[in-house]
Amino acid sequence: MLNSDLENKDPIDYPKRNVWIKTFGCQMNYHDTERVLSHLRKLNFLPTDDKNDADLLLFNTCAVRALANMKFYSQLGELKVLKKQKKSNIVIGVLGCISQIEGQELLKKYKHLDFALGTDMVDQIPEVLYRIYSGESKIVLDSFDKTSAYSIETKITHQSPQAFINIMKGCNNFCTYCIVPYTRGREKSRLIKEVVADIQRLVEHNGIAEVTLLGQNVNSFGKENQETFPELLARVNQIAGLRLIRYTTSHPKDLSDELINAHGTLSKLALHLHLPVQSGSNTVLARMNRKYTREAYLDLLARLRDKQKGIVISSDIIVGFPGETDEEYEDTIDLLKQARFDFIFSFKFSKRPGTQAYLMEDHPDDQIKSKRLKKLQDLQLAIQNEIRQEMVGKTMQLLVDGVGKIEGKKKWKGRSSCNRIVHFDGPPEQSVPLLYKWVTVKITSSTALSAQGEFISIC
Ligand code: SAH
Ligand code: SF4
Ligand code: F3S
Repeated sequence: MLNSDLENKDPIDYPKRNVWIKTFGCQMNYHDTERVLSHLRKLNFLPTDDKNDADLLLFNTCAVRALANMKFYSQLGELKVLKKQKKSNIVIGVLGCISQIEGQELLKKYKHLDFALGTDMVDQIPEVLYRIYSGESKIVLDSFDKTSAYSIETKITHQSPQAFINIMKGCNNFCTYCIVPYTRGREKSRLIKEVVADIQRLVEHNGIAEVTLLGQNVNSFGKENQETFPELLARVNQIAGLRLIRYTTSHPKDLSDELINAHGTLSKLALHLHLPVQSGSNTVLARMNRKYTREAYLDLLARLRDKQKGIVISSDIIVGFPGETDEEYEDTIDLLKQARFDFIFSFKFSKRPGTQAYLMEDHPDDQIKSKRLKKLQDLQLAIQNEIRQEMVGKTMQLLVDGVGKIEGKKKWKGRSSCNRIVHFDGPPEQSVPLLYKWVTVKITSSTALSAQGEFISIC
């Protein structure tokens, strides 16, 4: 039976059931989760936060670092009791990156697990559930889609005006530490005309005004179709009703002059770029197979900052890569001082079986990695604190995305074009509905991690 046949069945054909889903990992996984929930909604499943209330329990997994794997294994283990003692009729499935590379083993090892779906098989969830509810068990679908084209329609279930749009999948880069090329397969891009039509539909029918274009290395978007990422951005920039365009992630080795120029000319591009550097040492960068130098990276930052005034840059950094000497680590510290990132995600190197770095020698011990990470993070916080002080007294536009609590007081919360979170006092929730509106606020104080402001107007 085709997915479309299943989805087109009247939902009353399916009893009402609840689904609990736990998502680990990157924005792609969160986006896939939304896709799965959208399929499930058509099969009469409603999301629940309570495992005890769920008929279907799903994990969307991440394999990027050992810690993410451990968290998943322990939570999966806990469900054994639930399945045995409370509800033997619950169905448990695993999706995502661990499922892609270990699906078969997982089903053998965890007897209470019913199915495992790989990263290219997300859209097969209706078919798998049909088979499971027809009495089958222990299903694994972990092949990569071998067709040349990548064509999908974005599915969203949320109310907010922000949407993630997968523009490509996979990764061809094989950075030596990274498992992603093995969990997500080779790069494949959607056609520009399909992505543009998709976004136009979301703007017209779902009230979407802000998009984040997703890929592991968006800078190599379109290669197989003789299209380029800057061309895509130029087309998306023209979509009427769309207000803000973000994208992630960029690989520095492929950040072209055209893309830097786009940052100077396209009015809807956010004032933020996430550009992972990973290390400030040229010798470590070579061992990581990153294919750029620290000098080339710093030059990119200077040119981007020159073209798009006010752009803020964030990054990813790994410490304790195999063989990382004190000098190599100090080069990263030095790069941090020069780059002045707006924020960073920083990690201790994690050994991933199957990657080249796994087999390298001289892995620094965990104590050294922890010390290096702490010093790096402390330095970044100090830099970030300085940068964020510069916001105080200025006005900023934010998209309001909720209400948060600061020192026990309820405040509105929003995100700026440069990706900063601001809490602000404003009209009470009931009097003027600010949720999902763009507002202007004046920043009154700021720390390294969040800022506070006063509401001025809806803009
Ligand atoms: N495609 C993106 C992100 C991939 S994973 C990119 O190229 O930037 C997100 C981040 O996890 C990476 O940028 C890297 O900093 C980190 N990461 C990946 N593998 C890791 C490993 N084995 N140990 C520690 N951090 C890792
Ligand atoms: Fe991993 Fe490198 Fe690909 Fe990013 S570019 S997903 S870090 S292999
Ligand atoms: Fe993790 Fe897979 Fe994303 S390994 S970081 S969920 S692509």
